[in-house]
Amino acid sequence: MTILETFEMMNYGPAPEDPREAVNWLDEHERRFGLFIGGEWCPSAGKKRFDSINPATGETLASISSAGPKDIDKAVAAARTAQSGWWKLGCHGRARYLYALARQVQKHSRRLAVLDCLDNGKPIREMRDIDVPLVARHFYHHAGWAQILADEFPQHEPLGVAAQVIPWNFPLLMLAWKIAPALATGNTVVLKPAEFTSLTALAFAELCREVGLPPGVVNIVTGDGETGAKLVAHSDVDKVAFTGSTEVGKEIRRATANSSKRLTLELGGKSPFIVFDDADLDSAVEGLVNGIWFNQGEVCCAGSRLLVHEPVADRLMDKVRRRMESLRMGSPLDKAVDVGAIVAPVQLERIRSIVDRAVEEGAHCYQAEVPVPDEGLYYPPTLLTNVGPASHAAQTEIFGPVLTSMTFRTPDEAVALANNTVYGLAASVWSENINVALELAPRLKAGVVWVNSTNQFDAACGFGGYRESGYGREGGREGLEEYLVPSWSRQLPRLPESSGTKSAPVSGAAPGSGPALGIDRTAKLYIGGKQTRPDSGYSIPIAAANGDHLGEVPLGNRKDIRDAVEAARKAQAWEQSDGHSRAQILYFIAENLEQRSDEFSSRLQRMTGGTSKSAAKEVHTSIERIFSAAAWADKYEGAVHNPPGRKLTLALQEPMGVIGIICPDDTPLLAFISLVAHAIAAGNRVVTVPSASYPLIATDFYQILETSDVPAGVVNIVTGRPDELSPVLSAHAGVEALWYFGPISGMAATKAESVSNMKRVWTHEGRAFDWYDPRQGQGRELLKQATQVKNVWVPYGE
Ligand code: NAI
Repeated sequence: MTILETFEMMNYGPAPEDPREAVNWLDEHERRFGLFIGGEWCPSAGKKRFDSINPATGETLASISSAGPKDIDKAVAAARTAQSGWWKLGCHGRARYLYALARQVQKHSRRLAVLDCLDNGKPIREMRDIDVPLVARHFYHHAGWAQILADEFPQHEPLGVAAQVIPWNFPLLMLAWKIAPALATGNTVVLKPAEFTSLTALAFAELCREVGLPPGVVNIVTGDGETGAKLVAHSDVDKVAFTGSTEVGKEIRRATANSSKRLTLELGGKSPFIVFDDADLDSAVEGLVNGIWFNQGEVCCAGSRLLVHEPVADRLMDKVRRRMESLRMGSPLDKAVDVGAIVAPVQLERIRSIVDRAVEEGAHCYQAEVPVPDEGLYYPPTLLTNVGPASHAAQTEIFGPVLTSMTFRTPDEAVALANNTVYGLAASVWSENINVALELAPRLKAGVVWVNSTNQFDAACGFGGYRESGYGREGGREGLEEYLVPSWSRQLPRLPESSGTKSAPVSGAAPGSGPALGIDRTAKLYIGGKQTRPDSGYSIPIAAANGDHLGEVPLGNRKDIRDAVEAARKAQAWEQSDGHSRAQILYFIAENLEQRSDEFSSRLQRMTGGTSKSAAKEVHTSIERIFSAAAWADKYEGAVHNPPGRKLTLALQEPMGVIGIICPDDTPLLAFISLVAHAIAAGNRVVTVPSASYPLIATDFYQILETSDVPAGVVNIVTGRPDELSPVLSAHAGVEALWYFGPISGMAATKAESVSNMKRVWTHEGRAFDWYDPRQGQGRELLKQATQVKNVWVPYGE
């Protein structure tokens, strides 16, 4: 076509990026890469290799080493050796390296951009204007965090060695999200890029050498899922950070259940893109282009489910179809291209099969009639309508340029549809009425909500999901916390292996052979604000320390747990109540406990066999603890971020939802109160299994709850055997988080069962907590576990 013809058609002519410099770089390495371990390039011990292919041309770009177990051992050992020196380098020392990395990324920005285009198939425009600038920003921002770390996180230490596994959709950006916070906080890293896209990670390794990063601080091991599985399971790894599919996230949770490795999982999504009838429809259409056709839709937080208000549905769909026709699909190296190639044949096949199935199930499929290049892996922008909310296409993460569309009539219906998936990564709300948008934001189960915008990211703003989209945040202050531990936690003594395993027989078999007390209280379960009999019809006799029969508690079972979870879920109004109201109820609980403190002290003393002084101290501290939780109820607040550009991000601390709590035997009243009071102070409802040895102290507490205006269902108490009840709670889809302080023997099973809905599990990790220590038993550490951050992005300023 001549220039004149192009001019007359007003079509974009080709504007190819010259890949020569990146190709030269590959040639300099003879298109053959080893592993980057301890600051050196090394061959893989197993000599296994695979090719990296350009999905737009089918060309083999380079031969990549596949790391085996010996290589992983070597890389983890290098990271371990380097770690103490890296930490001792101090804040300023680490900050300088992070700054140097930021500068080096900028200096080589075009090479890095082209390499990811070649390897992944993503358009150069996006790499140049979005990915690479965000990578540099991430290192700059974290250079800053490294500098001020000691002031901002006093008495904190790095976890140690971090194993990081990343996907192929944003190869360099995901690397930056992983490496920058780990390094800023004094950890060292072994990172495995995805097998389809290893090149920018290898190029980054070279940048590490160029800035003189101490050997072993960053190690890059390439390979497939098998390499990843070996890395995350390595016994000398302290932290696993993973981004990828929910399926693999679940495998990783199971594989690490028997260890104390800290986990952050950034998993899949099926994010709603909600358009109200008063939205600026043209802006919403551009938002959709960014939401679902950015990066070919291979985005974990892609706005892949369009929910449109019925009155404007036809109008919006017309506009969407027209806009789809003007999207330009083609060579990723063409600067005028919007939609590039799909990363690999397997992914293309996956997209095809999901769309084919949707059509078979009755969906209407509209595909843009955009010219498809003759070679390469391409899939046209696609719109599926007439899909049911529960259909496969509307529920499955497609990870391709495919939008499913549904309509809604009312805001309530929009919320119900939006939340109707197992995921909870992101959501986008479009309305010119700020009231509408901000009324919806808190009701959406999503870690990120974009108002009148979509796919916004920044190093200062935490990113991560609710529900099966994973847990933990990357970016911002909360992202750093995922790589730090409070120093006191390192000094905690180990619990004896047998701790908390004392399991009483069911009633009749009687421990406590001593005389029964005069008045035997018949404790019941406490569910939905009522004292109820257990489903099992059994009770457990509870003996005093001296062997006397103290009373009996019900033997709760699976059905009782289900009832308790149901009651907790019904008490959702607690979540919406404000901190001020919750504080008042907590103060009232403290007041009522105070009135009965003598009774609780003597009961406690008889149960545990301690002195009257120690029992009185435990009751007194428990009252103080409730005061502390009440004090925090309206003070554990979020933050407002100012990311670059015309926006504000409100980082809100939201309750987890329903928390299952398995209480320890140690200081049974104080531990129970510390855990429950903080959980409910943050707006959660709880299902608690009290200490197995001293459950009567919790059943006595019912009366306090009943007289303190605690709404029914906010606190539910199911007595029984923690090792039986904990896996039930952990597997329950209606429980959002689990705090496990029971016997060590039940810890791994509890973690493994949590994959049911990817609930966050917090445990003692085999350490003896001192519940008297305010650093361990109250305040921010507990509230952090009781909340998850939701980032709401709102347009702001001119
Ligand atoms: P994946 O989850 O298998 O791969 C992500 C990373 O994990 C890669 O580096 C891979 O080598 C590694 N990996 C695989 N199995 C592992 C294991 N058992 N232990 C440790 N590491 C392991 O994703 P995949 O197969 O590339 O894509 C499949 C689907 O997953 C996509 O169609 C998409 O729906 C979803 N996905 C979601 C991502 C997200 O960010 N939410 C990213 C990539 C894929």
